[in-house]
Amino acid sequence: MALLTVTGLVRRFGSLRAVDGLVLSVEPGQIHALIGPNGAGKTTAFNCISGFLAPTAGRIELDGCDVTGWPSHRLVSAGLSRTFQVTKVFDDISVRENVALGVRSRLRMNRRFWPGGAAVSAVTKICDEILDTVGLTARAQSAASELSHGERRVLEIAISLSVAPKLLMLDEPTAGMSAGDAGLIGRLVRQLARTTAVLLVEHDIDLVLGLSDRITVMAQGRAIATGTPEAVSRDAAVQEAYLGRSVDR
Ligand SMILES: Nc1ncnc2c1ncn2[C@@H]1O[C@H](COP(=O)(O)OP(=O)(O)O)[C@@H](O)[C@H]1O
Ligand SMILES: [Mg+2]
Repeated sequence: MALLTVTGLVRRFGSLRAVDGLVLSVEPGQIHALIGPNGAGKTTAFNCISGFLAPTAGRIELDGCDVTGWPSHRLVSAGLSRTFQVTKVFDDISVRENVALGVRSRLRMNRRFWPGGAAVSAVTKICDEILDTVGLTARAQSAASELSHGERRVLEIAISLSVAPKLLMLDEPTAGMSAGDAGLIGRLVRQLARTTAVLLVEHDIDLVLGLSDRITVMAQGRAIATGTPEAVSRDAAVQEAYLGRSVDR
């Protein structure tokens, strides 16, 4: 069974159908990229799926549960976590404390399982694991403001992991990064996919082709192709959609 199933998703802005009948499904453990020309509706679809915009029509299922129209905080407790194109990090506190804030809110959601002091050591243990996973252990005590741009993006992913998502949604994780840092993010995403499915919007086509298990190409609010990187890059409709337009890369 698919982890995320989107059927007939529509989002209108006035008379404009920014998303116009999108069909998308993400399998457990897979890295799934959403690409397409500017204005195709990728961000709008992302916002609908993650509960930041109400869909006009359609159905969104997460792990077999109908979550259509759920607000983002409810989706987070259901296992869907996302990052934003513009990093949301608290500058004045340490890297570790940024992650701990997320972990504590996750434990609060399940507070009956974490009485008193057990919660404190649980937070410490989970923070350590997450920082180790993303490779920020050496920076744990640094103020977030001291991080490089690439490290901040990694911290944002670490914060998203604090809720132990089943589906991690990344909005342009390599935006504004050097090629070296982008490669780092690619390796991190590959590693994260061992424990969570990943849906990402990404403009770096080379990264997308090298990283993704499946790719959905959007144009004019719809999916015009879905498949492996090989199949999608051979697809005539995909080449047509990109032809003569500004290609997202
Ligand atoms: N809040 C909004 N109000 C009105 N139109 C919007 C809004 N957000 C996006 N759009 C329009 O919807 C279309 C799809 O936009 P978007 O989802 O941002 O595309 P993409 O992320 O693929 O570039 C565009 O024509 C855009 O101008
Ligand atoms: Mg966009």
